[in-house]
Amino acid sequence: MPIRAVVYTSEAASDIAASPPDQTGGKLCEIVDDAARFNRDAGVTGVLLFDGERFVQYLEGPEDGLQVAYSRVLGASNHSGLIELQRGRVGQRRLPFWPMRWLHVEPTELRRVASADWTGFVQREGTGASTSATGMELLRALVEPYAAAL
Ligand SMILES: Cc1cc2nc3c(=O)[nH]c(=O)nc-3n(C[C@H](O)[C@H](O)[C@H](O)COP(=O)(O)O)c2cc1C
Repeated sequence: MPIRAVVYTSEAASDIAASPPDQTGGKLCEIVDDAARFNRDAGVTGVLLFDGERFVQYLEGPEDGLQVAYSRVLGASNHSGLIELQRGRVGQRRLPFWPMRWLHVEPTELRRVASADWTGFVQREGTGASTSATGMELLRALVEPYAAAL
């Protein structure tokens, strides 16, 4: 089954921005628990990066499931100013690890991922941290330590 992906950046609503950057409790955990429940049924996986103010979220899955999950994202009132960075087909799943999970990242890291080249979701071997790394490569490098702990 063809897998499609979408990645975007957005600005968190102020009640989320104010909550502590840990993995337990708080508004963001409620949102992500809800998202993960939905995504699991829809066959969608991915990750949500949060720097305390902004998000970058990457979602992938079968077209129908991804479309519904993404429409929920687009309709959510907890963020604004959404900018889609890329949308399209990926040959195979790049982030199969979680139906959804959020990771705290530094603002500089989030900015780097958001401003990187996402064309075609290109991901080469061994280029994770280099200056020419693509968005997909930077994201994989950020997620890798958490995925390795599974
Ligand atoms: C940053 C962010 C990421 C989200 N990710 C997903 C997702 O991956 N899948 C999904 O089905 N819904 C996702 N949602 C939607 C939430 O699960 C939830 O339905 C929504 O925040 C409720 O918004 P409301 O208070 O406007 O009803 C996301 C929402 C936000 C704000």
